[in-house]
Amino acid sequence: MDLFDVYPLFDVEIVRGEGCRTFDKEGQEYLDLYGGHAVISVGHSHPYYLQQLQAQMEKLIFYSNSVQNSLQRELAHKLGKMSGYDDCSLFLINSGAEANENALKLASFYNGRKKAMALCGAFHGRTSGAVRVTDNPKITAPINAGEVEFVPMNDMERIVKSLDKGDICAVIVEGIQGVGGIRVPDDEFLRQLQAACNRTGTVLILDEIQSGYGRSGKFFAHQYAGIRPDMITVAKGMGNGFPIGGVLISPKFKPEYGMLGTTFGGNHLACTAAIAVLDIMQAEKLMENSLRVGAYLKEALEQFPQIKEVRGRGLMIGLEFEKPVKLLREKLLYEQHVFTGASGTNVIRLLPPLCLSKEDADLFLKRLETVLKGLN
Ligand SMILES: Cc1ncc(COP(=O)(O)O)c(C=O)c1O
Repeated sequence: MDLFDVYPLFDVEIVRGEGCRTFDKEGQEYLDLYGGHAVISVGHSHPYYLQQLQAQMEKLIFYSNSVQNSLQRELAHKLGKMSGYDDCSLFLINSGAEANENALKLASFYNGRKKAMALCGAFHGRTSGAVRVTDNPKITAPINAGEVEFVPMNDMERIVKSLDKGDICAVIVEGIQGVGGIRVPDDEFLRQLQAACNRTGTVLILDEIQSGYGRSGKFFAHQYAGIRPDMITVAKGMGNGFPIGGVLISPKFKPEYGMLGTTFGGNHLACTAAIAVLDIMQAEKLMENSLRVGAYLKEALEQFPQIKEVRGRGLMIGLEFEKPVKLLREKLLYEQHVFTGASGTNVIRLLPPLCLSKEDADLFLKRLETVLKGLN
């Protein structure tokens, strides 16, 4: 059987990882400025993470959501404390798309409405509801169609006009748009959006799947604006590579048996991975590191005359160029052995593990400078 060929692949096979480094089959070392789509949060193969997973694996890998699982409660408790949301409750699933799918469903159960609002450039996943609120018709099949209004980021006048009609179930917004090009919503926009949602009975969902878990330098990117959304969705960095996602749900939503459910969500190994991530983030002050090294990197990148604009917060950084970045990324990977990501054609996306050191940031800057010089 062959693979269903949907991914354009780089000709590299990564077989090992350590901190902010990965290694291919030939033993070549790479600097990882992408963390495999923002997934590696505490670093590749962190010894404590491995030890915790190994110990749990020897005890129990899985049992269903029909019995008590104290690991889920421990995860919820630690996540609530570290994120500042200990009044919320947690629903666990396996991916980002599922997190958004369940948040949208819960919002619709809550107010009985079925129309959604999302921002232009948004990416929320590929399952039916999640892809409906994703601003990319190429990945939306007819079966995913449903009522959704896409509005420009920061255009409060337009948004208020729509919300005032009273038929929008939920507004879903990324803490920082990732796939859309590392676009940070204005703090004041988020504050006004929350007020408009509260006034019109619309549920506000903050998708922190890419921008959350300390990446921005705060636990959640929306915390810069001082808002408290109705639901927050998480995944990616939550498990440092072990698939897990979650919805943080404010107390205004009351659970009922059978309302939501999943087979694999919140399984023993996934919870162990997610608890280890939080323990490491706290012990190694990774949120602070993200803020410090992110600011250092951003300031240095702003000095490059070839870069049109540097955007982002913490270790979620976008570099916009005048020209397509395809060749630049290929040279970084094959000649300088640096992994980066892209958003669209002209933006390089940096999403390194949160343990990136200043020395590694310097190494990246040097390698980027070399490639840019060669391209001029
Ligand atoms: C902001 C955001 N939301 C949702 C998703 C979907 O997550 P997953 O691929 O785990 O379903 C992604 C993935 O890139 C994302 O960046």
